[in-house]
Amino acid sequence: MDLPIVCLPGDGIGPDVVDAAERVLERVAERFGHRLHVERRDFAGVAWDRTGTGFPDETRAACAGAQAILLGAVGDPRHDVLPAAERPERALLELRRMLGAYANLRPIKVIRVLDSSPFRPAAIEGADLLIVRELTGGIYYGEPRGIREEDGRRVGINTLRYDVREIERIARVAFEAAGRRRGLLLSVDKANVLESSQLWREVVAGLASNYPDVRLDHMYVDRAAMEIVRDPRPFDVILTGNMFGDILSDEASVLAGSLGLLPSASVGAGGGLYEPVHGSAPDIAGQGIANPLAAISSAAMMLELSFGLKDEAAAIEAAVTACLRGDVLPRDLGGTAGTTEITDIVLAAL
Ligand code: NAD
Ligand code: IPM
Ligand code: MN
Repeated sequence: MDLPIVCLPGDGIGPDVVDAAERVLERVAERFGHRLHVERRDFAGVAWDRTGTGFPDETRAACAGAQAILLGAVGDPRHDVLPAAERPERALLELRRMLGAYANLRPIKVIRVLDSSPFRPAAIEGADLLIVRELTGGIYYGEPRGIREEDGRRVGINTLRYDVREIERIARVAFEAAGRRRGLLLSVDKANVLESSQLWREVVAGLASNYPDVRLDHMYVDRAAMEIVRDPRPFDVILTGNMFGDILSDEASVLAGSLGLLPSASVGAGGGLYEPVHGSAPDIAGQGIANPLAAISSAAMMLELSFGLKDEAAAIEAAVTACLRGDVLPRDLGGTAGTTEITDIVLAAL
């Protein structure tokens, strides 16, 4: 089949890891008899440098009609001084919203506990969780927002709000995911303090009777942050809002071994958006040492969720697992191999 994808390499290590994922997609297409069509577009910081906007119209047009988008990373310290609305990160928020990609799926699996891990193998081996993060609402988007002057003093304002419809649709995604996994759903909120969380908890609980095979529990986010590292194995699916999901997923990446391993898929109304959980990693950008496995696994999620190609996705996952079980490892996992070397190992396994 034809596999049309839009690629947004973005900033920092983004182009390196997207190149790696594209090489893997090409190999899979060749092996399984598909035709990959890649359309590359400027996005975020690089787009701002070239055109004065992080989300140029031609990128917008390409993304609006896309079945699947592969994104590297956004963000460049040089742009941290820009007004909030012009920052590369805001382009990403706009893209997610434009796509209606409200459900961000972030799987975390402990495949191998290396010496570089701060965890004892006995404490985390076998952990396998999925964070279902609400992606197009909450405090990232709520109005009013901004920095303004009140009574001669500057105030920074953000608004955390969720309406019933937003909560219901993300909760359904999480219930269904739990139904396909071990049947355990944990909704994480801050309902002891926040009204938005009280509504969240009420709406999620109200849906539970539609999913008799799923056991629903609730936990406050502060405790969840602790339990995830104390004993991650009881966790199956974690359902949570935009900001809590952002924070918990970076934390949980340490279980897998590194942020450089965590893929994500963002789905909802239209085309899917696939991106590693990590950012542009300015501290290692341009050195050819970024771990490409998160981007490669994101490409696997794309094949499965946007194109229905389960075998192809499984082949990539198996190749990534083989790489992780081998002796040659990327730097973030305590090895010395660069981006190209790791990608070559995955390609060889394919
Ligand atoms: P980061 O995720 O870019 O990096 C955090 C740490 O993890 C760094 O030490 C980095 O070197 C390391 N790391 C990340 N990905 C790696 C990989 N693939 N291989 C090896 N090491 C890796 O987070 P940060 O430093 O807080 O943010 C840097 C920039 O990225 C900021 O501009 C931020 O806004 C942006 N950001 C973007 C995204 C995204 O595009 N989805 C996500 C997070 C942060
Ligand atoms: C992520 C990132 C983004 C987020 C930023 C760059 C907008 O941290 O995808 O996890 O907070 O969603
Ligand atoms: Mn993040």
